[in-house]
Order: sequence, then C-alpha cells, then structure tokens
Amino acid sequence: MDLDHLLLIVLTLLCTGLQAVTASEWGYWGKYGPKTWSELCATGRRQSPINIVTEDAIRIDLGALKFDRYDFAFSGKLINNGHTIQIKLDGIPIHLSGGSLPSVYVLEQMHFHWSAEHTVDGVRDPLELHLVHYNNQYANFSEAMQHEDGIVVVAVLFEVINNSDNQDLMPILETVKLVSNWVGKNTASMRNKLIPLLLLPKDHTTYYRYEGSLTTPGCQESVTWFVMTEKLPISEAQMNMFKHVQSNNGTLKYNYRPTQELGNRKVHHRLEGYNSTSSLYTSNIILVVNIFLVSLLYKNF
Ligand SMILES: *[C@@H]1O[C@H](CO)[C@@H](O)[C@H](O)[C@H]1NC(C)=O
Ligand SMILES: *[C@@H]1O[C@H](CO)[C@@H](O)[C@H](O)[C@H]1NC(C)=O
Ligand SMILES: *[C@@H]1O[C@H](CO)[C@@H](O)[C@H](O)[C@H]1NC(C)=O
Ligand SMILES: *[C@@H]1O[C@H](CO)[C@@H](O)[C@H](O)[C@H]1NC(C)=O
Ligand SMILES: [Zn+2]
Repeated sequence: MDLDHLLLIVLTLLCTGLQAVTASEWGYWGKYGPKTWSELCATGRRQSPINIVTEDAIRIDLGALKFDRYDFAFSGKLINNGHTIQIKLDGIPIHLSGGSLPSVYVLEQMHFHWSAEHTVDGVRDPLELHLVHYNNQYANFSEAMQHEDGIVVVAVLFEVINNSDNQDLMPILETVKLVSNWVGKNTASMRNKLIPLLLLPKDHTTYYRYEGSLTTPGCQESVTWFVMTEKLPISEAQMNMFKHVQSNNGTLKYNYRPTQELGNRKVHHRLEGYNSTSSLYTSNIILVVNIFLVSLLYKNF
C-alpha cells in the first residue's frame, strides 16, 4: 500500500468519525438547535411537525384505527436518552392497523415532547405523546425508517384542564424521577405495569392524518401521522416532572421542534360515518330537485 492510499484511508476514517460526532450532537436550543439540523431536516418537503388548520382539513371517513393488544398490562423500561423520556414495553408485540393503512404496524417505543410539537389552529399544548410503530413488512425499525410507508406515529395531546393529576400517567411518572438525572443513557424498569390503551383518548375514532417525517435528526420522511383529536388531561405538577429531566447540556426545559411548512400536502380529518361521496351525492339530488321545482314554478306562471 502506498502513502496516498494510506492517507486516503486515514482521512476517510477521520471524516466518518467526525460525522458520527456531529450527527449525535443535536439539541433543541443553542448552537445545535433545530435551525442547524442538516440534510433532510433542512431540505425536506414533507417535514413534521405542522400546524393543523382545522378549517382546511379534508373531512373524510378513512376508517377507525385498530389498537390490537393495547388493553393488555405491560412491564417496561424508561430511558432518558438526553433528548426525551422513552418507554419500551416488554413481551408480545402490540399492533396498529386500520385507518386506511397498507399493513400492520408494530409498536416500537413511545416518548414525550414538552411542549407539544403539533399545534392545532396555532395553539400549542404542554405535552405530546408519540406512539411510534413500524411496518411489519420490514425487518425492524431502522430498516422501516428508510421507506415511505415505514413508520406510523400516533400523537396524543395533553392539556391542563382542572389541574388534577392524570392517574394513568403514574407508572411512567414515578419512574421518570429515577432517570431524570443525566448520567449518560439512563434506564430504569417501571415498578407498575402500563396499559397503553389508557394513554389514548376515549374517542379513538377521530383523528387528523397526514404524511410527514421524524421530528428529530435525520428527519426521515417515512412517517404517516395520526394526531388524535381528543386530548387527555395532565396537571401542572406532572408537567413539572418532565421539565426537570436532565440532558447532557443542562435541564431539558423543552424538546419540541418548531412547526414546518405544510407545502402541497393535505391533512385529512377522520370523522366517523362521514361519507364525502354520499354527501356529494345527496347535495346533487337536492340540486336536481330544486331545478325541477323551479321549472315547475315557471311552467305555472
Ligand atoms: C448547551 O447550551 C448552551 C446554552 O444554553 C449552548 O450555547 C450550547 O451550544 C449547548 N451545547 C450543546 C452541546 O448543545
Ligand atoms: C435491521 O434489519 C436489517 C435488514 O434485515 C439488518 O441489516 C440490521 O442489522 C437490522 N438492525 C437492527 C438494529 O436489528
Ligand atoms: C378533572 O377532570 C378529569 C377529567 O376530565 C375528571 O376525571 C376529574 O374528576 C376532574 N377533577 C375535578 C377535581 O374536577
Ligand atoms: C359511503 O358511500 C359508499 C359509496 O360511495 C357506500 O358504499 C357506503 O355504504 C357509504 N357509507 C356510509 C356510512 O354512508
Ligand atoms: Zn417524537
């Protein structure tokens, strides 16, 4: 091997090493904030999150989402990865289907953003839960992430209504304390079992759906988003537990990405039984009947 070759190899190794460092160094403020996120995060055309303009959403019945095994009680682990609190459940896979999805999606993990990432008519709620699923046609999450139909995220918004605690968050929140203090990746098992169904609003049938991306680098454009219309309650005290989570750069005061351009995408608003074709048909009948009545009137005069 000559010197040029050796130099090339050394340079390549250095560059990939450097790239790995910069790729992992991202945050929500300061000199690594969202404005500096590169590649697809900067150049993509179907990025998330977005502001949902309810008036512009296309009302249509895309079918209900089917939450399979969400009602089982699962043990699991919490991870403070420095960017969020993530939950991984143990045991049998949990499945999502329906909602006009092309196949069955497997729950990979769930995590939180404070404040919420998706805004609705410009309003930002204090907390958003992401239930992240991958298409079971692919081997695993990282493989699915490379495909347009690879990932489905169900987003649930939380709001402070009467400031009473949400008991269904307790298995998570009692463990958040144990992983809050950043010492690199920090993991703890939940003491009590978690029923994922309780982290969904009672009304599973109404949601906003659009095509978007992951909201963290590298912002892969492989996500079908379902933002549930109904919100869940949370108290200020519970919110403060999230706001005290530590990262590698001080307290993780917030961890949401700003909203991105919708561009030429459409947001669909699923409403049970709403039939755009049949309502169009009905209004056509009304129109025809009206013309008929009007022509009858004219004949009589
Ligand atoms: C840490 O935060 C400070 C200010 O809050 C910011 O200037 C700095 O760039 C941040 N560093 C990293 C690695 O995010
Ligand atoms: C995911 O699947 C791909 C393709 O089968 C494989 O190459 C890769 O090692 C897997 N990754 C993980 C993290 O299991
Ligand atoms: C607060 O609201 C929740 C959910 O809507 C309800 O279950 C609870 O009883 C309310 N608590 C009080 C003190 O009003
Ligand atoms: C909606 O319309 C389709 C045909 O356009 C029809 O087959 C279906 O039964 C309708 N559903 C409802 C709930 O009206
Ligand atoms: Zn997320």
